[in-house]
Amino acid sequence: MPNNPLILSGKEVSLAVKSDLNVRIEKLKEKGVIPGLTAVLVGEDPASQVYVRSKERQSAKLGFNSQVLRLDASTSQDELLKVVQDLNQDEKVHGILVQLPLPKHIDSQLIIETINPEKDVDGFHPVSVGKLVLDLDGFVSCTPAGILEIMKYYKIETSGKHVVVVGRSNIVGKPMANLMIQKKDLGNATVTLVHTRTPDMGVHTRQADILIAAAGVPEFITEDMVKDGAVIIDVGINRVDDASREKGYRLVGDVDFTAVSEKCAAITPVPGGVGPMTIAMLLSNTVKSAENSLK
Ligand code: GUN
Repeated sequence: MPNNPLILSGKEVSLAVKSDLNVRIEKLKEKGVIPGLTAVLVGEDPASQVYVRSKERQSAKLGFNSQVLRLDASTSQDELLKVVQDLNQDEKVHGILVQLPLPKHIDSQLIIETINPEKDVDGFHPVSVGKLVLDLDGFVSCTPAGILEIMKYYKIETSGKHVVVVGRSNIVGKPMANLMIQKKDLGNATVTLVHTRTPDMGVHTRQADILIAAAGVPEFITEDMVKDGAVIIDVGINRVDDASREKGYRLVGDVDFTAVSEKCAAITPVPGGVGPMTIAMLLSNTVKSAENSLK
């Protein structure tokens, strides 16, 4: 009998999040505050251009004061530092986002650490990461925050469950693992984090009640790596060549969706799963920052 997993639509959850944000944005406007988000894009990485355009479009749709600073790939580190310092000083800017990756001649960590933590809507600053680990109020990295929203919306129980996170990136793997161990309803999980140096990864992934795939490798998670009835969260957005498509590529996740769907209880699709949530949470963090500016 074919298995029919629940499709966890990040698209749907993101619409609900944005609808809630509208109410908060109206309240801010009554107090004379318009959420301001500035994205900084250095160079011409095609995927980054798509992401930034989407962030620009969606923040404008919510009535944000949004702008994108598009800088040449040859921009020096000092010039970029100055841009960030100026944005730190600008009262109309509540959120600063420097799109990664940056060109090789720029020290990304130095740039991130220059952003005022109060405007760090990406949640990448060491202050934000430290607050997340200590369960203090701060900005949570957008993709893990979006995954929590999906779990909340679809009432996915994490307490007492075994969550296996695949990938140890600063943006997803590390914060996700930390969120899942927090002493709260959307936490209280037993967490295993596996990565490129983990021998026989399947031994661990097959134990997962909830498997969060953030490996950055197309269709890395195959059917044999998944337990029957698991919940699958696919963080990957990978372009793979496809001559049959107009663009010459298609998007696939880090999970072999078709094969894994035969086994799991629920799964996020790609596209339309975790992706839309990342931007929704960026908008949410910016509204939070604008609200904080009134305190
Ligand atoms: N590059 C890939 N994902 C992200 C993100 O969430 N924020 C930024 N700034 N850069 C990225």
